[in-house]
Amino acid sequence: MNSFFIRSSFSLVGLVLLTAACCAPARMAAAQPVGLGLAQANNCVACHQVDRKVVGPAFSAIAERFAGQPEAVDALVHGILNGSRNKWGPVPMPRQVHVDPDEARALAQWILSLYKHRGDSPDSPLANNRESK
Ligand code: HEC
Repeated sequence: MNSFFIRSSFSLVGLVLLTAACCAPARMAAAQPVGLGLAQANNCVACHQVDRKVVGPAFSAIAERFAGQPEAVDALVHGILNGSRNKWGPVPMPRQVHVDPDEARALAQWILSLYKHRGDSPDSPLANNRESK
């Protein structure tokens, strides 16, 4: 009885450790695609968060507004490279001179992909646009 208890609690601990060690980072990596790293590297996160407005609108709100628009990627690339004003509020976004067009496109595609991740529309047409550049 005692040894059974010890053995089973050991395997329980082992299971918990295994889950913590192997699966948690994997899940985090899936939830934080390269796009977030790019947004951090380019300092977008100084003004934007994924899920809430800071200085600029939440990236998920941008994704929602542009959802289903065929020109969405180009529109966002344009906004990132040239800046944006009067679309979301009184504060303008300065042009992001340090971002090159390829990065802007990758960022735009990532931002738009956030609409799908919200779970509102698993079949969003943007899912097709995303990987095809
Ligand atoms: C200094 C603060 C600031 C920084 C840095 C910044 N943004 Fe913005 N961003 C804003 C604001 C404010 C708006 C809303 C502008 C408006 O009302 O048109 C905005 C709007 C946007 C939009 C929506 C444009 C549209 O057409 O609706 C996108 C996309 C965007 N930002 C992406 C980015 C990306 C990507 C980066 C990093 C390369 C970035 N932003 C860096 C403040 C910022």
